[in-house]
Amino acid sequence: MNSVGNLRKAKLSAAKKAMEFIADAEVIGVGTGSTVEVFISLLGESKSEWRGRVFTASSIDTALKLGDLGFKVLHPVSIEKLDVYVDGADEVDRELNMIKGGGAALTLEKIMTYYSDRRVFIVDYTKLVGYLGEKHPVPLDVQQQALNLVCRYLSKRGYKPKIRYATKGKYGPIISDVGGVIVDVYPQKRFDPLELERELTSLPGVIETGLFVGLADFVVVGYEERAEVLKRGR
Ligand code: 5RP
Repeated sequence: MNSVGNLRKAKLSAAKKAMEFIADAEVIGVGTGSTVEVFISLLGESKSEWRGRVFTASSIDTALKLGDLGFKVLHPVSIEKLDVYVDGADEVDRELNMIKGGGAALTLEKIMTYYSDRRVFIVDYTKLVGYLGEKHPVPLDVQQQALNLVCRYLSKRGYKPKIRYATKGKYGPIISDVGGVIVDVYPQKRFDPLELERELTSLPGVIETGLFVGLADFVVVGYEERAEVLKRGR
């Protein structure tokens, strides 16, 4: 059984190691989630080091957290180049393909990942899986008007789509930072990540998927007492 304290230590190990990857960066993209939250708190502990840097965020939550610490945070529309992007993940397979979107921020996360010069993901060791889909569904960000059409289409093809509902603080479906509705897709059998990614992104009404295939340069895996850096292609 993983205790909450052990997981927190594992996230901290990964976040600490990730600081090495941003040391030389001028423009830093920051993702979303509880592991990233630990990373942001470390940035806060060494504020003076990061004062001259520019940050951008994959979600309003992260933008607010960075802003509260006094960092310069730009809206993504003002960013032309990202030196490094740091984010968490829900699942990571052996090829460093990932499922993301547990925090509903997948669309901006994918955009920032794709356009960043260095892509670094920080996870605790429980995120490593034998194959994608082992523990988590594949999230989709779906255009609101297309919601029922997309869900019915997916159902007919044997995927089990489920609209993600807020459990607290809001009635109804979770609306993403880009205005879509989050739908969690439960494929009924093992899938090839790239094939599924292609199929899902080809559907009109699907804004983005939480499948990140071939996009991670480094995955920093945190354990209680150490961190291991996995590099793509090794
Ligand atoms: C948000 C994400 C997160 O990075 C992912 O859900 C991991 O979060 P956490 O670090 O809390 O486990 O993709 O959309």
